[in-house]
Parts: sequence; C-alpha cells; structure tokens
Amino acid sequence: MGKRMTNKSLKKLLQDYPLLRSITKYQEVCWINEKKNELPVATIKEVNMEEAIKRLQRFAPVIAEWFPETHSDFGLIESSLQQIPLFKQAMEKKENQIFFGNWFVKSDHQLPISGSVKARGGIYEVLKFAEKLALENKLIDQKESYRKLLFPSIKSFFADFTIIVGSTGNLGLSIGIIGRKLGFQVIVHMSKDAKTWKKDKLKEIGATVVEHDADYSVAVEQGRKEAEKDSFCYFIDDENSTHLFEGYATAAYRLEEQLHAKQILVDENHPLFVYLPCGVGGAPGGIAYGLKKVFQKNVHCFFAEPTHSPAMLTRLYTNIKDISVQDLQLDNQTEADGLAVGKASEFVADHIGSFISGCYTISDNELFRLQALLFETEKEYLEPSALAGFYGPITIKSYTEKEKLYENMPQSTHVFWGTGGMLVPEGIRQEQLDFGKTML
Ligand SMILES: Cc1ncc(COP(=O)(O)O)c(C=O)c1O
Repeated sequence: MGKRMTNKSLKKLLQDYPLLRSITKYQEVCWINEKKNELPVATIKEVNMEEAIKRLQRFAPVIAEWFPETHSDFGLIESSLQQIPLFKQAMEKKENQIFFGNWFVKSDHQLPISGSVKARGGIYEVLKFAEKLALENKLIDQKESYRKLLFPSIKSFFADFTIIVGSTGNLGLSIGIIGRKLGFQVIVHMSKDAKTWKKDKLKEIGATVVEHDADYSVAVEQGRKEAEKDSFCYFIDDENSTHLFEGYATAAYRLEEQLHAKQILVDENHPLFVYLPCGVGGAPGGIAYGLKKVFQKNVHCFFAEPTHSPAMLTRLYTNIKDISVQDLQLDNQTEADGLAVGKASEFVADHIGSFISGCYTISDNELFRLQALLFETEKEYLEPSALAGFYGPITIKSYTEKEKLYENMPQSTHVFWGTGGMLVPEGIRQEQLDFGKTML
C-alpha cells in the first residue's frame, strides 16, 4: 500500500475483511479462493516452459561435470517423489482422524547443488543470463556442446559481470553457488532473517554478502538500486522475474512424469492436492502455474505461510495491491526464514490469483512439531520453512466440502513440496529436532 496505515483505516479493513481479525491475532487461518475460476492464465506462454526445459538440457553436460551429485540424472537438477506412509499414519494418530489418499513429499529439500526449491528458479536464471552473454559474444553456439563453458577463458570473461540479488537466504545460496562456478562476481543482499550459516557458506565460495538490519523487501530494494548503477550488473528480481518463474514452472512436467511412473492417476475422479510453502511467491507461484498448465482443473494448489508473515494470503484475500503484513501491524518475525516476507510479489499475485485454491497459515510451533514428526517417522530432515505444506490436509476441509470433492477424496493424491534443508548444518538440525520433540 506504500503509506503506513492509520489505526482508523486498519479498523475499516478489519470490518471489510473479517478473516483479517484472526490474522492480526496471529491465529492460524485458511482462506479459500472464492473467485477461483478454471480459465488458464495465458500471460506466460507455454513455449517459455518448453524453452526452459530445453535450455536446462543444453546446460546438463556442464552441470554434470561440475556437480557429480547430478550424474545419475545426466546433469538435470531434479529431486525424487517419495511416499510418506509412516508420517501419514502418525498424523492420523496425533490428530485422531483419517486422512484420505496417498501422501508424498516432493523432495526439493534434497535438490542437487543448493538443497532448496530456489535452485530451480535461481540456477535457471543465472544459466539463462550466462547463455545470452556467451551467445552474443560468440563464445558458444547453440548447435554445439556447452562443455566449452568449462574453459577457463570463458570463466574469466564472465568475471567482468556481477550478478546481484536480494534474498532471505536460499535464493542467494543457489545464485551464489552457480554464479561463482561460472565465474561471475556475485553480491547477495541479505535480510535480517537470513541465517548465519547461509551467509557464511556464501562468503566461503567468494560471494559478497551485504547484510541489512531490515526485512526482505528492503534487501531486494537495495540490491535493485545497486544494480542500476552499473551496466555490467545483472539484477535477479525475486519480486518480478519471469525467468525465475519459468525455471520453477518446469517442475510441473517432472512431477507429471514421476506420478506417471508410479502409475498414479490424476483426473476428475483422482484429484491432486499440492501444498507449497510461500514467501514472496515466486517458487510456489511458478510451480503452481506449471501444474495448472499440466493438470488443469484436476490439481488444487494451496500456499502455506507462517502466522507472522501471511503476505500472499493477505494480498489475495483483500485484492489490495502492495499491502504488507506490517500494514496489519504484524511483526513478520518467524523461524521460517525463507517465508519471512512482508509483501507478496504483485507479479505472482497477478499470475496465480485466478486459479489458486487457497492459502493457509501455520504457527512456528507447528512447523517444529511437524519437523520432528517427519524426522521421527520417515527419517527426513527439512528446514522449518519447508514444513508449512505438511499442514495442508488438516486445514483445507472446508475447501473439499465447498468443491464437492468429498467422494473423490479416497482416490486423491497429496504432494507436500519439501522446499529446503539439505545444507543445514548438523548442530542446527539437532537443536530444531530436540525442540520439536518436546511438542510430540
Ligand atoms: C525453504 C524455502 N521454502 C519456500 C520458500 C518460498 O519461496 P518464495 O519466496 O519464492 O515464495 C523459500 C524462499 O526462500 C525457501 O527458502
């Protein structure tokens, strides 16, 4: 909204949008998108998603060479889809209810290279930028192998360019790792929520970290300003980038293949529910956009946010442009550092508002409880942000009733997007798990 909201205008807002009353008390809520229609959104053309897939394939031999963990997938950056029956059973016991359908985690917490969903968009955009520079300067040819990018001469060419990004941590890590590998200078503007280990990792690989004692929106703004000063700087705009969005969207094709390989049907009688943790909205927005293209009305996408940072929910529910959680006098303080975003991306809100099924919020304590339960049952560690999706089936009951999906729920599939965790140091993992265990 820009200008700070007065108490009077906040009071009026709470009258007009009753759900905000619970939101301003940090209570968990679930908002269902009453305006959802099933029209496809055509602003990002399908061709871009296919182009993105082809681009990632062109880079695959280089990625395989640099990152041996991608060998088994021939240089593609992909994660597995794993069923989590023990977690489901434990949830049924704890919640004292039966949950329908099969539950899976899409394991982007183990995504090669940087261990988070942000690798999809962030790495893709850096590769796209590198490709553009290299083609324009005739350093590579699309018809030849991109292995030439491994030559030191190309690395020194890229060293004249600087990539700048604002981040709560994981996007910065993804861009830092691939950017430095290619030879770029990388500057990451970090919000105050960013964890020290993420900053240390970036410094270790030779990226410059600019620390801000302010939230994510300020970090992005400062990065944008810095990049404007120098024509050799390229700014990756987490709030507005169509390139990031394309990179995230490609995940949908891969999920389709993985479901198919497991002989899991998605159609009118077999609904697919996907639960995505949401910060500024780029990652969940791009993935949901891709999923809608692939599965259309048979996929139901929900975004999950912390009770202290419900930026996308507030934006979509009120339909007020640029509204922030600070406008609601919320503090935007959460242990889910990747989701500590006060203002949602307008670009993403525009792209997903017409088809998103809903958004819900989850308290930090619930994140830690779910984290411990998932680890105890399935031996999977995810960072706190990544647990937000796992609350979905508990909270979306009113949606399945409203959409009259009840009959098809026994044949439903539920995918929780596991968005990060692989790189979290052991000591921090243990502390979090010990805390979560106290709530089991
Ligand atoms: C672990 C994790 N999950 C989810 C997200 C949300 O992504 P976005 O900010 O694009 O909505 C982030 C963002 O950094 C993250 O780090």
